[in-house]
Amino acid sequence: MKNDYIGVAVVGAGRIGTLRAKLAAKHPAVRYVAISDADPARAKALAEQSGANFHSGSNDEIIAHPEVNAVIVSTPEGAHAAPVCRALELGKAVLVEKPIALSLKDADAILATLKQTGGHLRIGYSRRYKECFLRAKEQMIHGRVGRVVGGLARVYNSRAQAFAILERDPHATPVLDVLTYYVDLMCWFLEGNRPVEVVARGQTGIFREAGYSAHDVTWAIVTFADGAVVNFGVSYALPSRYPTLGQSDRVEILGSDGTMIIDDDHLDHLLYSDKGIPHAYVPGHAVNMAFLGSNTAGDWAVGDFWGPLGNETRAWLDSLVTGHATVHTTPEQARVNLETTLAIERAVATGKPVRLPLEDEVDAARVRR
Ligand SMILES: NC(=O)c1ccc[n+]([C@@H]2O[C@H](COP(=O)([O-])OP(=O)(O)OC[C@H]3O[C@@H](n4cnc5c(N)ncnc54)[C@H](O)[C@@H]3O)[C@@H](O)[C@H]2O)c1
Repeated sequence: MKNDYIGVAVVGAGRIGTLRAKLAAKHPAVRYVAISDADPARAKALAEQSGANFHSGSNDEIIAHPEVNAVIVSTPEGAHAAPVCRALELGKAVLVEKPIALSLKDADAILATLKQTGGHLRIGYSRRYKECFLRAKEQMIHGRVGRVVGGLARVYNSRAQAFAILERDPHATPVLDVLTYYVDLMCWFLEGNRPVEVVARGQTGIFREAGYSAHDVTWAIVTFADGAVVNFGVSYALPSRYPTLGQSDRVEILGSDGTMIIDDDHLDHLLYSDKGIPHAYVPGHAVNMAFLGSNTAGDWAVGDFWGPLGNETRAWLDSLVTGHATVHTTPEQARVNLETTLAIERAVATGKPVRLPLEDEVDAARVRR
């Protein structure tokens, strides 16, 4: 697609759909914005806030709208497949939030539709558009760490945000919903190599007591095809008022000629306020101390939205105009990410190593204890 007219449909008017719609409405090539939500009142409210042209309680209505040629799917994870397939069938370019789906069955339905239609689909792994990770990829392209022998990627967040995610979809566990970003980053950094085996352990407690099957902490060792060994870890069970407002993470890459350490815990920009600091993702939640810069999507500042999700949305819209390639996650890469995180959950559930690719269909709901 190469076009200086873009009409965008945003499907799902929640937290991320709101950001996408507001960013799209500001883009110079976007002349038309339509918004849908399963809850029509939400679609209407966001249309009013963002100045959108049209809103509806029907996804199909906005996807099929003649003014629309690009679709952003920002529904909860388990509801991605239907609007993505519909948009592809109608020949519209699609950006869908991560993960591509929660089951390989849904992911494969999307990939099959893409194959039939020859359409355009990218997946919103916005960590790729965080500047520290773009810089890291650039160094990998130049080969400065040499052959990667291993590494580490771990991410922490407070349980306040985890509960907000689990409320949206109880199957969107920290592994499938969050660790997926770091699987994506490592697979991107180690491009051409892919995960072949997973060993993992997890501990339950805090989330289980609240009625969810998600683990409080999960650690996995993933072996890549050439033998590189990467340690992945996630805990979204830190105390509710822990100062992170999103992801506090650390990524390390160990190579034959170099080492890259990316300290993304955000300890370098603290704010303390007796007045409280509102949490961008969890309504009604506030902290007294915050690691500024830790909002996963980015931040509003002086009238605009800055950060990974801003960079990612603008880059995608720009690419529709210019036709230039971008570094957005491809559907095939997103499927590898999903399969690897499903394998991590299966390895935790069975206590056994899991080989990749998975030989049978693993439904997200079935692999958990
Ligand atoms: N890139 C990032 O920084 C980032 C951050 C958080 C979430 N996400 C991803 O964004 C997606 C949405 O997350 P969110 O936090 O905005 O969720 P949310 O709960 O805030 O919003 C989801 C919205 O979708 C609506 N909805 C539910 N089912 C629908 C359907 N079938 N059709 C239309 N609308 C429907 C809900 O009413 C709600 O308004 C998820 O895939 C999530 O993983 C990305």
